[in-house]
Amino acid sequence: MKKLAIVTLLTVGTLLLMAADGKALAAKCAGCHGADFSKKALNMSKVVKGWSVDKIAKALEGYKAGTYGGAMKGVMKGQVASYSDADIKAVSEYIAGLK
Ligand code: HEC
Repeated sequence: MKKLAIVTLLTVGTLLLMAADGKALAAKCAGCHGADFSKKALNMSKVVKGWSVDKIAKALEGYKAGTYGGAMKGVMKGQVASYSDADIKAVSEYIAGLK
């Protein structure tokens, strides 16, 4: 029993440490997309506001992998290159939740 408790504690602790802060991750996006993502970034992107978590995450994963985007996709690749899967999920959830 004791061992199980320790394993549980370690797992919960790791999950908490890994939990990314979507709002903090989205702060650097505001300059181009607007704080609520209602702007066309550099007048080139689609308006991301109103997209579902899934749609945003797919786009960001695609930019990271080089499989999604238009003429300006290089700009976005630089933005998300260092984001982990958990970061992408957190930032997508934050953006999709914006009113
Ligand atoms: C330097 C300006 C700039 C910054 C900063 C920036 N973006 Fe972008 N973003 C763009 C441009 C330009 C596009 C369109 C790229 C293309 O041609 O596909 C885009 C596209 C996107 C798209 C897909 C929309 C579409 O047109 O298909 C999403 C989602 C997105 N950005 C999210 C983010 C997030 C999240 C961040 C912050 C981590 C961020 N962006 C930071 C400029 C920026």
